[in-house]
Amino acid sequence: MFFDHIEAAPADPILGLTEKFQQDQRPGKINLGVGVYKDESGATPILKCVKEAERRIFDEEKSKTYLPITGIPEFGRLTRELLFGKGSPRVADGSAVTCHCPGGTGALRFGADFIIQQGLSKTVWISDPTWINHVQIAKSSGLRFERYPYYDPDTHSIPFDRMMGTLSKAKEGDVVLIHACCHNPTGLDLNPAQWRELSLFLKERHLLPALDFAYQGFGDGLEEDAAGLRAILENNAEALIASSFSKNFGLYCERVGALTVVCADKATAERANSQLKITVRTSISNPPAHGEKIVLTVLSDPELRAQWEGELATMRNRINDMRSQLAARLNDSGVGDFSFMQGQRGMFSFSGLTKDQVAALQRDFGIYIVGSGRICVAGINQGNLDRLVEAMAKVIRG
Ligand SMILES: Cc1ncc(COP(=O)(O)O)c(C=O)c1O
Repeated sequence: MFFDHIEAAPADPILGLTEKFQQDQRPGKINLGVGVYKDESGATPILKCVKEAERRIFDEEKSKTYLPITGIPEFGRLTRELLFGKGSPRVADGSAVTCHCPGGTGALRFGADFIIQQGLSKTVWISDPTWINHVQIAKSSGLRFERYPYYDPDTHSIPFDRMMGTLSKAKEGDVVLIHACCHNPTGLDLNPAQWRELSLFLKERHLLPALDFAYQGFGDGLEEDAAGLRAILENNAEALIASSFSKNFGLYCERVGALTVVCADKATAERANSQLKITVRTSISNPPAHGEKIVLTVLSDPELRAQWEGELATMRNRINDMRSQLAARLNDSGVGDFSFMQGQRGMFSFSGLTKDQVAALQRDFGIYIVGSGRICVAGINQGNLDRLVEAMAKVIRG
């Protein structure tokens, strides 16, 4: 038989957790595993601006013909505006090209394929810890990967000197993958001085920056969250950027993301774009339209855009508020000092819980978080906070 030798693969560590959660019959169960925003009632809502955009698309769309291979050009321009800022020449001077991809994952995968296909590099440096899919995408696209330290469990902070020390072993031409904001899973981002230092370092060492920008708007704001990326581009004429609209538009299942290739000049960008088309053509041929049209409709209409920014701020503020409350309540429970959580940003909080404590949360309380101790803060609400704090305090006390 052809397929007999195929071995069962382990479940995806994050999505597999949701499957387990769904099978759990206990009434008080809580899913804080997968990175999906939930409102106070525990629902993952469709944003109002998205519903309105869908209504307009439904009324006005005349054809379902194929989109251009790299997506609708205006979608690309609006994406670059979010990345570089409205006044930036890079938005429209042709030196950066943007390709619609199926989600941030699609953007990362196309970026990795592009690196291999164009012989840009063989090795990518990935933070340790990171979103598990970074490693899997590197492997499946044929990139070698190395790790740089990004988390010190004793101080709950980024060991910046060690990080830079490790990166100094990178060879000229290697790719360095950086979370542009809201690092997953630690919630820790570089400070402005560290971004500057990293930016100059990448330039001096001739390393190619690849930025994963999955959470723009979930940290401190759309502009604030782009500051690190912009600091990198201040000194580096070339970069790859993977955007996701899954989280900030709540378009998880529509698969909207973008790969932006920043080049030194327009002529190079045109050549890069022609090759990108082949990357896309040979994997998905051309992109799905619905999600892309939603983002385009919202970003190009001043009213819908203002509504989106408001809805995004509501999500961001709720997450930051829940994080503060969790930290304060854990401090009150007397099982340790959790003030470090206050400095974390984005959907996740690295709680410091051990693997055994995470297992006990699941076994004894039906509370599901990722094995690394990563909590999806966006899943906490007033209805489950007490139970969560009590359970965490119990497993920490042992
Ligand atoms: C760091 C990071 N990058 C990229 C993604 C990709 O998101 P999506 O493919 O759903 O747009 C995620 C999603 O969880 C993420 O956490």
